[in-house]
Amino acid sequence: METLPKKYLILTYGCQMNVHESEKLAGILEDNGYLPCTDATQADIVVFNTCAIRENAEQKIFGNIGELKNIKLANPNMLIAVGGCMSQQKNYADEIMKRYPYVDIVFGTHNLADFENLLKKRKETGKRISETTEDETIALRDKLNISRTSGVNAWVNIMYGCNNFCTYCIVPYVRGREISRPEVDIISEIKKLLSEGYKQITLLGQNVNSYSGKDEEGKEVSFAKLLFDIDNLDGKFRIRFMTSHPRDLSSDVIDVIANSKHICHGIHLPVQSGSDRVLKSMNRHYDIKRYNSLVDEIRAKISDSELTTDIIVGFPGETEEDFKATLDVMRKAEYMQIFGFIYSKRKGTPAEKMENQIDKKTKKERLSRLLTLKNDIINAKTAKMLNQTYEVLVESVDEQKGLLYGSLDSGKTISFKGTKNCLGEFVMVKVIQVKKSVIYGELVDNTAMKTFKEKNYKLPVEVSILPSGEKNMKILRENKQNKKLECDKKSKK
Ligand code: SAH
Ligand code: SF4
Ligand code: F3S
Repeated sequence: METLPKKYLILTYGCQMNVHESEKLAGILEDNGYLPCTDATQADIVVFNTCAIRENAEQKIFGNIGELKNIKLANPNMLIAVGGCMSQQKNYADEIMKRYPYVDIVFGTHNLADFENLLKKRKETGKRISETTEDETIALRDKLNISRTSGVNAWVNIMYGCNNFCTYCIVPYVRGREISRPEVDIISEIKKLLSEGYKQITLLGQNVNSYSGKDEEGKEVSFAKLLFDIDNLDGKFRIRFMTSHPRDLSSDVIDVIANSKHICHGIHLPVQSGSDRVLKSMNRHYDIKRYNSLVDEIRAKISDSELTTDIIVGFPGETEEDFKATLDVMRKAEYMQIFGFIYSKRKGTPAEKMENQIDKKTKKERLSRLLTLKNDIINAKTAKMLNQTYEVLVESVDEQKGLLYGSLDSGKTISFKGTKNCLGEFVMVKVIQVKKSVIYGELVDNTAMKTFKEKNYKLPVEVSILPSGEKNMKILRENKQNKKLECDKKSKK
């Protein structure tokens, strides 16, 4: 009789939404008797939760699935499942099935809640499975047991999907249309999280400003109202949210943040480009005048606000002049962090078909100029932090080094000396050293540290993803008999 696999490893790629969905997958696996592990060679099931946002993400994932082949050779009973945004696309699902005959299950983003059944089906029938539905299973997904692994941080979906169809972006195709969760569900989830000791709640949605849920009486609830109601909950905690769309970020939301007790003043506001022409071609529905006036409004109403952004370089048709306009926006907004990306063609999106695709060399050269300016801006901002004191939430610990890692209200991370019992506490930290954009601090009140009780947070673990090269070869050598993949044989009709 087949013994039940017992250990799982989930490899997550992509955004916070995916990190959180991996926590839901972990919940399903734990409900089915699996325990987490950190090494692919020890796992009875490995699940890839994939991302399709750019080509390099996909290449990495393909490479890693490829690397699992040797591990599966050594352990033919191990199951491999590939889910997430890549698998949601039929052509990729087919390619994964074809290229990697040792993959057991391929499932799309909308099949997540059904993962338990897929697993059962695979075990019962012995047949490989590929399922990607377009049907939303949101109601089911909301009821899943979540095995949270982000320490003091808890992710909370307020909505799923995206309606925006920015012309470069694959997300609307792999995540479906926008659906907002009912307010009461969100509030009760957050209340529970706070009672369990979580200290930083991040509200997740591709475009949180277009949240449009219902209250218990069926009345519409805007994002501003939702934030206001969450802010009114008792306790010491932080609220963050991602992502804001510059078209939809309203004055009401800015006002709620400005007057709140718990909402962080670090706001992620992706600009994407500084050129009106490019923004139009991206289907972003705002121009730079609107973006800059938002920045001004945020700065005026929230004096210690800190902005972060995403920028794409080399979008089809982007001229040198367009790119310079992007650099101008970067200078004006004085971002605390900038995520710069080279435009990557996504199959089935309008931009893929646009003429005037920019050549690789120009894209790379623009990204490198962007990164140089980014470093100048961020380093200059960071330098000003020296000798300032900030409230810090302690998020992780390196016990060997005796170091704590925490985040400021702005989202910036800082490290300083301290002990494990500080995890999950808000402490005051003075910045004592600045190295480029990295800051180091010291606890203002060392004695307070002694009074904190130790708490039981499940911290994110360093996964020894796929022991490559030497280790794989060793496994292969040790496993003399297995010259051929077991699942190869099984899959032959
Ligand atoms: N919903 C969020 C984030 C989406 S993905 C938003 O609207 O901001 C995160 C970032 O990836 C985007 O902000 C964008 O800058 C980048 N991105 C998306 N598609 C891309 C593509 N095809 N090529 C390069 N970068 C892309
Ligand atoms: Fe993609 Fe635009 Fe939706 Fe963000 S808002 S997920 S960039 S389509
Ligand atoms: Fe996120 Fe990547 Fe999907 S960024 S929504 S995991 S395509």
